[in-house]
Amino acid sequence: MMNNPQDKIDPQKLVEEFKDIPPMPNVMVKALSVIKNPTTGIAELAKIMQADQSISTKTISLVNSAFYGFRQQITSINKALVILGMMKAKNIIMSLALKQMMTAQGSRDLWEHSIKCAVASEIIAKEYKVINPDDAFVIGFLHDIGKMLLNAKNPLKYSKVRYLAQQGNTDLIELEDSQFGTNHCILGAFISKKWQLPVILTNCIRYHHDPSQSSLPTVCGIVYCADRLVKQTMPSPIFETKVLNKLDFTISDPSTLRETILAKASIFLKEISSPN
Ligand SMILES: [Fe+2]
Ligand SMILES: [Fe+2]
Repeated sequence: MMNNPQDKIDPQKLVEEFKDIPPMPNVMVKALSVIKNPTTGIAELAKIMQADQSISTKTISLVNSAFYGFRQQITSINKALVILGMMKAKNIIMSLALKQMMTAQGSRDLWEHSIKCAVASEIIAKEYKVINPDDAFVIGFLHDIGKMLLNAKNPLKYSKVRYLAQQGNTDLIELEDSQFGTNHCILGAFISKKWQLPVILTNCIRYHHDPSQSSLPTVCGIVYCADRLVKQTMPSPIFETKVLNKLDFTISDPSTLRETILAKASIFLKEISSPN
């Protein structure tokens, strides 16, 4: 990972400032641990999902939706897991397990944006054969996780920061740095390390606003492009040349890709947003 002046912030100071870094939700810890063993994994994952009515109901409804387009009707969690595979099942658990944490202080924006970005990253990875699409989903889903800490620290101040950034006059990272002394990329990488997530994830979270600074510009570039494609405040998706120059893929028709992504993401969100 390349050094950046902002990384010189003393990690201990960050811990003191943002001491309420939440632990990883228990169901996610369990899911991540069982998928390490492919032989017993499916049965163990089924048990985890069956223990949570909401997760199993939503997984079954998602597996029967147009999002995956499977032909047969699935009614049991065991069959859903066999047809989905462990990685996709784990990603659904993660999306649901972090919902409560991401929607704290009554804002659904972060969770919905994270789902859209996850779906976009998966589609980009599949289309351009950059990395495993299931891994791309995770990176896309977690890229803005640092925003949880800024929101938790001062929700009112952070909603003003986001409002100003949405008006388009000032860069979000600059605003966060000036108002909080740090930003969601640094804090997100900090959470990722604390949760002991893979280094590739920490790197992408850290550099998703400027993949040209990353040692993995193409992987990081997936989430950068995904983020910009799903931002409807950006009338047509704009990618910076310094980033594009370092990517191993070229997005030839961003507007059509955006339509495909938003249509698929809305199906995913509908199926996992129902009250049960
Ligand atoms: Fe971001
Ligand atoms: Fe984002």
